[in-house]
Amino acid sequence: MPLQMVRNDITRMQVDAIVNAANPTLLGGGGVDGAIHRAAGPGLLAECRTLGGCRTGEAKLTGGYNLPCRYVIHTVGPIWRGGQQGERAALTACYRNSLQLAVEQDCETVAFPLISAGVYGYPKAEALQVAVETIEEFLQQQELTVYLVLFDRTVYTISEQLHREIAAFIDDRYVEAHTDSRAEQSRRIAIQQSCPEVFAAPMPAAAPSAPAVDPDLLQAVRQMDESFSQMLLRKIDESGMTDAQCYKRANISRKLFSKIRSDLHYRPSKPTVLAFAIALRLPMDQTRELLCKAGFALSHSSKFDIIVEYFISHGNYDICQVNEALFAFDQSLLGG
Ligand code: APR
Repeated sequence: MPLQMVRNDITRMQVDAIVNAANPTLLGGGGVDGAIHRAAGPGLLAECRTLGGCRTGEAKLTGGYNLPCRYVIHTVGPIWRGGQQGERAALTACYRNSLQLAVEQDCETVAFPLISAGVYGYPKAEALQVAVETIEEFLQQQELTVYLVLFDRTVYTISEQLHREIAAFIDDRYVEAHTDSRAEQSRRIAIQQSCPEVFAAPMPAAAPSAPAVDPDLLQAVRQMDESFSQMLLRKIDESGMTDAQCYKRANISRKLFSKIRSDLHYRPSKPTVLAFAIALRLPMDQTRELLCKAGFALSHSSKFDIIVEYFISHGNYDICQVNEALFAFDQSLLGG
C-alpha cells in the first residue's frame, strides 16, 4: 500500500527516512523535533549545526544516528496564522520537497509526522488533508511507500457529522460477531435447496439437442467461470483507466498488481478487493460479485465491511476518505 496511516511514535519507525517537523534553526525543540533529537543522540544536533538552518517549506537531510532509520529529513512547516498567509502552499512544499529529497537518496520507505499540526497550530483536519493529497499526488509518479505517522487519536479528519452518520449506519447493520453460524448456515442451505440452479455447477455449453438457453443467462454463467483477476482486468478495461491509474487509485503497489495480473487464480485479501471496487467505482452488486470471485462476501459482523458499504451506497469513492473513516473506527485500511 503506497500510502499508509499508522498510529505510532515516529522515532520507532524502521524506514529509510523519517521526516522531522523542525524549526528554522534546526537546533531542536519540543514535540516531534525534540523526540527525534532525543532518540537520535548528540550526533544529529552536531550535523544540524553545519546546515545553516532551513527556511519554511524547504527540507534538508542528515544521518539517522541512533534512530532505526538511515536518514532524517528536516523540514519547517508554516505557523498557522488563520490560513490567509500562504500556509497551505508552504505546508504542501514541506511534503513535496521532503519526498523529492527522499527519492534523490534512493529511499524506498519514508515516514512523516503531521507537520505543523502541533505547536505551529495548523488545524489537524486540514493538515491531514494537505498531507494526504500532496503525498497521493507525488505517488502517482513515484514508486515509494509513505507512512503518515499519527501520534494521537484526535487527528482523524472525518467530520463529527460524518462520524455520527457512519456510527449510525454501523449500528443499524452491525451483527455481533457471535451470530449463530448454525442458523446462518441452515438458512444458506435452505436458500440453496430452494433454487439449486443458481448454486449448481456451471452449465455446459448448450448442446444442439438441448433446449435454447437464454443468451443473457449463458453470458452470466460464462462470467461465473471468470476468476477474480479476469473480472478485475475486464472492469479496468471497461473503465477506460490504465492498469497503473487503477492500482494507484486503489492505493495498491505495482508489485502486488503484477502478481494479480500474472496469476489467473490469484487469491487477494478482502481489503485489496474492496480497494479495487472503490477505485473502479463499482456499484454494490458488482462489488459483491468481485468479492465473490475472490471467495469473500460483505459481512454485517464486520465494521470494516459496513463502513466500506456506507461509502459505496452513498456514492463516495474517495479512497482517502474511506481510509480516514476506517482509521477513525480503528479498522485496517483499504489497499494491498
Ligand atoms: N511521533 C509522531 N508524531 C509526533 C510525535 C512522535 N514522537 N510527537 C509529536 N507528534 C505529532 C504531534 O502530535 C503533531 O500532530 O507531530 C505533529 C507535529 O507537532 P509538533 O512536533 O509540535 O510540530 P509542529 O506543529 O510542526 O511545530 C514545530 O515545534 O517542536 C517544535 O522545534 C519544533 O519549533 C518547532 C515546532
